[in-house]
Amino acid sequence: MMKKYNVVVVGVGAVGVEMLRVLRQRKFPLNQLKVLARSSRDIFVDGEKYTVKEIKPEEFENCEIALFAGTEGEKGAAVTYAPEAVKRGAVVIDNGADFRMNPGVPLVVPEVNPEDVKWHRGIIANPNCSTIQMVVALWPIYKRVGIERIIVTTFQAASGAGKGAVQQLMEEIRAIFSQKPFDAAASLEVKGVDRVLPQQLAFNLFPHIGTFGECDYTMEEWKLVKETHKIMHDDKIKISATTVRVPVRTGHAEAIYIETKELISVEEVRKILENSPGIKVMDNPKDNLYPLPKDVEGKDEVFVGRIRNDPFVKNGLWLWVVADNLRKGAALNAVQIAELVIKNSNIKYQNDNAKYKNPKC
Ligand SMILES: NC(=O)c1ccc[n+]([C@@H]2O[C@H](COP(=O)([O-])OP(=O)(O)OC[C@H]3O[C@@H](n4cnc5c(N)ncnc54)[C@H](OP(=O)(O)O)[C@@H]3O)[C@@H](O)[C@H]2O)c1
Repeated sequence: MMKKYNVVVVGVGAVGVEMLRVLRQRKFPLNQLKVLARSSRDIFVDGEKYTVKEIKPEEFENCEIALFAGTEGEKGAAVTYAPEAVKRGAVVIDNGADFRMNPGVPLVVPEVNPEDVKWHRGIIANPNCSTIQMVVALWPIYKRVGIERIIVTTFQAASGAGKGAVQQLMEEIRAIFSQKPFDAAASLEVKGVDRVLPQQLAFNLFPHIGTFGECDYTMEEWKLVKETHKIMHDDKIKISATTVRVPVRTGHAEAIYIETKELISVEEVRKILENSPGIKVMDNPKDNLYPLPKDVEGKDEVFVGRIRNDPFVKNGLWLWVVADNLRKGAALNAVQIAELVIKNSNIKYQNDNAKYKNPKC
């Protein structure tokens, strides 16, 4: 008989709710499912009731797999409670950035580096949403001809910043349309809406995701660089990024420019991607066919279109890559990692959990 597992989901925000949905849709072998957040209450997902309990270290007793989708940072769920779960014998799969760059923690995208789950010591990190869809699309090309350089501009949906950001977008739109009579020519400046994002998002966009860091790149932009290097095991790839928040509910899009090591034709790239796991090519300019965020919401694949050569650089190629940031960009990738852990039977591992310390990246 197939073994079933005791699973804890931490967080019931944008990602946590999708996690519950993905576990059910994929018929994950669940023995007991516990849902934890900052406060207890009942929630409904697709008509299904889930009792949410207040998070406490003891709630991780008997837990075998803990899927973390709480907030990041010093006082966030993962830094505080992931070591508690590991100490009690669970494998933690964390959606946040706290452990991603720790050399002792694998950072895994199952289509790219599944073998990395084998060396986990209790915690496995899920990459950032914008990194996941980029590496899924580029890995098959990298394997065939190598990639020297990546220049990426992202167009990231509100839900990428959590349920509060979606609420901000909706309230801003409501505030603009509640002018009576509506004056299309009037200022679109919104006042009086609580902001979790650094700027107004309705009828706007801004190149500012995460705080500004080294060399005036944002942390979101650095994630695309450093996480890609770690996942692909190649820190020689020259990567630079501009990340932009756009007034879309869910679905991140990316305009990706690459320079390959060896020449490859557009037709060959299309064929390779069509035959690669987790990718759907949607590329027919004559019929105006290319992937759109509104069409990928709720879908599992990474969609690729607008594959074309750079007219001036012979090994330069452009791709337009779109995926549901809450599914492949977060919840689905995390559940796929849990499935890999089970498949590899490395749910139990050799470590000294009692001595586990919070990593310093
Ligand atoms: N949104 C995306 O597209 C995306 C993609 C990749 C990765 N991520 C990462 O996934 C994580 C969750 O993101 P989200 O978008 O789902 O955020 P969210 O919508 O803001 O939801 C956060 C959830 O975490 C819970 N939480 C916060 N602090 C907690 C704590 N100390 N202990 C227990 N639970 C806690 C909250 O509990 P209450 O409901 O009780 O307040 C809430 O349910 C973040 O680390 C984020 O960076 C998000």
